[in-house]
Amino acid sequence: MPEITYFSPDGTQTTLDARDGDSVMETAVKNGVKGIVAECGGACACATCHVYVDEAFTDAVGEPGDLEDDMLDGTAAERLPNSRLSCQLKMNPALNGLTVRIAPKQI
Ligand code: FES
Repeated sequence: MPEITYFSPDGTQTTLDARDGDSVMETAVKNGVKGIVAECGGACACATCHVYVDEAFTDAVGEPGDLEDDMLDGTAAERLPNSRLSCQLKMNPALNGLTVRIAPKQI
């Protein structure tokens, strides 16, 4: 199972084994990782699952789709070049070792 490490706004670091096909958001919520709100449950409609992807993985995660790109313009915390909505990042073996920093503000 691919491993993800989350850095929460409160400084907590959490490393989890994700199921293939689960999103970075789902894995966090299921395991009580702090800082991801995910109000819309993964429908790409709330932008409250904002994370910053470690630069080492930006190529592996690819570019956001058009809808995600539009939603990223409305995030509560600053949008950066490595900003993504974690509900749109599906885990797979190529993302093993993924590290994300959870945005300091989601709402
Ligand atoms: S959970 Fe709502 S946009 Fe990701």
